Amino acid sequence: MGLETVGPADWSELSIARPPARPEPVTRATAASPLTPHQTTPTQPAPVQAVAAPAIAPSPPASEPFLSPILSIEDRRLRLFAMDDGEVRGCTKCGLCHSRTHTVFGEGAVDARLMFIGEGPGHTEDQTGRPFVGPAGMLLDRMIGAMGLRREQAYIANVVKCRAHLPGPPAKDRAPAPEEVAACSPYLERQVEIIRPEVIVTLGVPASQFVLSTRLSMSRLRGNWHTWHGVAVMPTWHPSYLLRCEKEGNLEPKRQAWSDLQKVMAHLGLIPPKKSA
Ligand code: URA
Repeated sequence: MGLETVGPADWSELSIARPPARPEPVTRATAASPLTPHQTTPTQPAPVQAVAAPAIAPSPPASEPFLSPILSIEDRRLRLFAMDDGEVRGCTKCGLCHSRTHTVFGEGAVDARLMFIGEGPGHTEDQTGRPFVGPAGMLLDRMIGAMGLRREQAYIANVVKCRAHLPGPPAKDRAPAPEEVAACSPYLERQVEIIRPEVIVTLGVPASQFVLSTRLSMSRLRGNWHTWHGVAVMPTWHPSYLLRCEKEGNLEPKRQAWSDLQKVMAHLGLIPPKKSA
């Protein structure tokens, strides 16, 4: 079966059971990725795209590559754990702290070559303290699986660590406000600096616009390589958007997302899994 057909079909058919409870902190519990991190990559991304509009949150317009040394796996674990346990869990830097159940720091391999960045926790994530564990997370798991990886081989985080929602009932998720992004995003930048992935996939508008310091639309951003702090960035559609489009019978965004992920696979030299008969 060809590459073109493997992704979208898999994503809509599989479902993955997930434990409901908050696990041990990622820094202690996560096994190192069997992929060798920071290898030389087989293809080079295109140069950074010029951005036309101002950022939605304060962030340098042209992000400089990180200059700090690459850390050992143990140091990455310690630093991520210290940030999660010592800073993020008790964070009161914005108003989202008043309505949260749990902060959602992020999880995955501390030496991941591939990092996914979403916008912020939804209801299920707020309840469990884990990123992407609701319906969008199940689709994200299938997208990662179609790339030939397991979820725990990647690192998954969000721009903001607490759920943003409108007053209910029912309390509906909303995009984080610029001041919430400004308050929280330094944690994300430090996560990226510690993990130093080779590729970041930004999922949807808030993550892509924050990381790329732009107001350009997803249609303009997705499918093209960018860089952030020296890391290659591929923006693609958010899994929640893919689910909404699929419900309406529109499979084109899913096809586009799969094409974006195939570029990431080529960049990382990943081989898609063989389809079972
Ligand atoms: N959507 C996101 O952007 N992040 C999550 O963690 C869950 C849903």
